[in-house]
Amino acid sequence: MLINSETIIKDTDELIRRRSVDVELPVSDEDRQLLMDMLKYVDESTIPEIAEEKKLQPAVGISAIQVGVPKKMTAVILKDEEGNKVVEYALVNPKMISNSIEKAYLDTGEGCLSVAEKHEGYVYRSARVKVKAYDLLQEKEILIKADGYLAIVLQHELDHFKGVLFYDHINQKDPFYQDPAAQIIE
Ligand code: CO
Repeated sequence: MLINSETIIKDTDELIRRRSVDVELPVSDEDRQLLMDMLKYVDESTIPEIAEEKKLQPAVGISAIQVGVPKKMTAVILKDEEGNKVVEYALVNPKMISNSIEKAYLDTGEGCLSVAEKHEGYVYRSARVKVKAYDLLQEKEILIKADGYLAIVLQHELDHFKGVLFYDHINQKDPFYQDPAAQIIE
């Protein structure tokens, strides 16, 4: 599937609010291809020359519903400053099995490929999560214990399965409300 700024669905499309369903295992060729295309999108989106040529908006993650497929699949790639991948997952049916009471938020706020307008404010999430999933890259079930930025990214992506967008979490009355007990992620 061609994935770019023109094919990624936006929050103006009701489909973005649709709930995603479990992917049948073993993963079909069609689902596998889609998830690998999603992973490729995320990878290429942070390589400036390719991103410009293919009209890719930079991202660290994408979920299948964002290309109009309501299935529980998410691709995540985190890179260091040199552009080396430090985290790479192609997750099928990821499920959060536990999450900390302690909260965390990105001090820059969050963004999303499906959200064009600016929504400023802090998005409070759990500081630590455990996520169980089938990882297509390792071809096995894995347990991810995440904190910091990765924990935020995973929760953002898993929200997409429920049709939830990051700005749904922003305090409408006080978008920059600071909870002193929460971790600030820079
Ligand atoms: Co998003």
